[in-house]
Amino acid sequence: MGLLDQPAFLALQERKAQERALSLNERFAVDANRFSAFCVPFGEHMQVDFSRQHLSVEVKAQLCALARDMDLGTAINGLFGDNCFNHTEGRAALHTALRMPADACVNLKGTNVVPFVHHELARVKAFCKRVHSGEWCGFSGKSITDVVNIGIGGSDLGPAMVTEALACYHDQGIRAHFVSNMDGAQLAQVLQQVDAERTLFIVSSKTFSTDETMTNARAAREWFLAACGDAAQVNKHFVAVSTNAKAVQAFGIGAEQMFEFWDWVGGRFSLWSAIGLPIALTLGFERFEQLLAGAHAMDEHLRDAPFEQNIPVLMALLSIWNINVLGLRSEGVFPYCQDLKRFPAFLQQLNMESNGKGVNNQGEKVSYNTGPVIFGEVGTNGQHAFFQLLHQGSQAVPGDFIGFARSAYGYPEHHRKLLGNMLAQAEAMAFGKNYDDVAKELAAEGLNAAEVAKLAPYKVMDGNRPSTTILCDELTPYNLGALIAMYEHKTFVQGVLWNINSFDQWGVELGKKLAARLIDDLADETETTAHDSATNGLIAQIKLWGGS
Ligand code: F6P
Repeated sequence: MGLLDQPAFLALQERKAQERALSLNERFAVDANRFSAFCVPFGEHMQVDFSRQHLSVEVKAQLCALARDMDLGTAINGLFGDNCFNHTEGRAALHTALRMPADACVNLKGTNVVPFVHHELARVKAFCKRVHSGEWCGFSGKSITDVVNIGIGGSDLGPAMVTEALACYHDQGIRAHFVSNMDGAQLAQVLQQVDAERTLFIVSSKTFSTDETMTNARAAREWFLAACGDAAQVNKHFVAVSTNAKAVQAFGIGAEQMFEFWDWVGGRFSLWSAIGLPIALTLGFERFEQLLAGAHAMDEHLRDAPFEQNIPVLMALLSIWNINVLGLRSEGVFPYCQDLKRFPAFLQQLNMESNGKGVNNQGEKVSYNTGPVIFGEVGTNGQHAFFQLLHQGSQAVPGDFIGFARSAYGYPEHHRKLLGNMLAQAEAMAFGKNYDDVAKELAAEGLNAAEVAKLAPYKVMDGNRPSTTILCDELTPYNLGALIAMYEHKTFVQGVLWNINSFDQWGVELGKKLAARLIDDLADETETTAHDSATNGLIAQIKLWGGS
């Protein structure tokens, strides 16, 4: 039975009008304990407040019933065993094994994969130790000071986001740089900042065939060879993280310099593997382990907590409520934390590449909305950009506010103001400002009745815009690991309830194929006529302006 036919879903739809009629203002007015009723703790360091969502006790109960009726518990258990199958790519999805303790057991076709995970983690640890101690050095004997990660998508966003997020823990004397884009500007800008003698390139690619990554990696190698002049030294300056040993070797990186991960790890779920090498190099391996421990704790929470207290499950169920019942189509993410500035981009890949699907697991077109448009920006920058629409636009956009009680950077005045702003935005979205209050305020400013009547409508804020607040004590490696895993699991649970495969990404393939042909056409000096008139016209103009 599909989502739309589930009795619990039908019951939710029946409640829609009555729930809509009750504003957040009214919900809080009638229930003084609403915050404690809808705020869910995760251990001692994190809590997630759902009280500003359009949730009632009855809606929450129906959503949890829906999850039970759709056998979510079995799907969750499958994620921790060999039962979560990415059927369109013929491989398992076992990223939770990447953060399991060494004595755990996850059987994939009869083989426990956890020892492979820990074997590779031990290699990462040993490598970090050699780099940090200076034992691993560049061709001229100088220690490594800069690492340049060359990768894209999951081979970039996770390590880049985490490395930046934990910037205040960078104490290993290593600077990390990230090159992902096919635009040579990015590589050029990074190469300007580093010294070939002291730079380590990490070529990160699950397939080791992604055009952006291979083009950047080849250009980086040429740059290195121009500086060093000795191809035999490449192995001191280039390591690889991949599942494709053959292609790594063909590129000229030896087996000793390759860190392995496995086809049962999706790219966007891979930062916990050796793909996290830039994280371990900049923060130290112990902190990387704390990141893994935080994620593992969230895994256990997903597996063991009852749905009513299960944060990722509730987050996903709320999406079903907001998207499939209330008709909302986007989700915002607003970290009130400068170091999390790449978090929205990371979440975009995690969720939109996973759940941007229109065909269900039986190969049929789905008849309901699936993955929302995700966007976001750090607070308070977002406030001065798109929050106007969140407060007064014609569509409601639910958002996640993410804040940390303490800042590692000092500046207590900044931090108090930052958190004050976060709380204010969530409050304004929920409760708005009614006409009477606006009118009173304008009158107090000295406006006459006619002026008040003219201006007041523009200043009224309807409120009643849902949001969730995720509050942590501090941005530590452990908390960040838990936070990321929380969103991974939200994404997974959404996919289960929408009956779609969250682990493939066929939608990005067509563009890659078309690009290959268009790249040839751009290089061809004769006129291009093989495409539609728009493509042909644009190619002609590019050539006219001296491009390609
Ligand atoms: O964008 C498609 C994609 O396949 C992502 O899923 C993946 O993270 C990215 O490309 C990079 O792939 P690879 O790690 O194989 O270079």
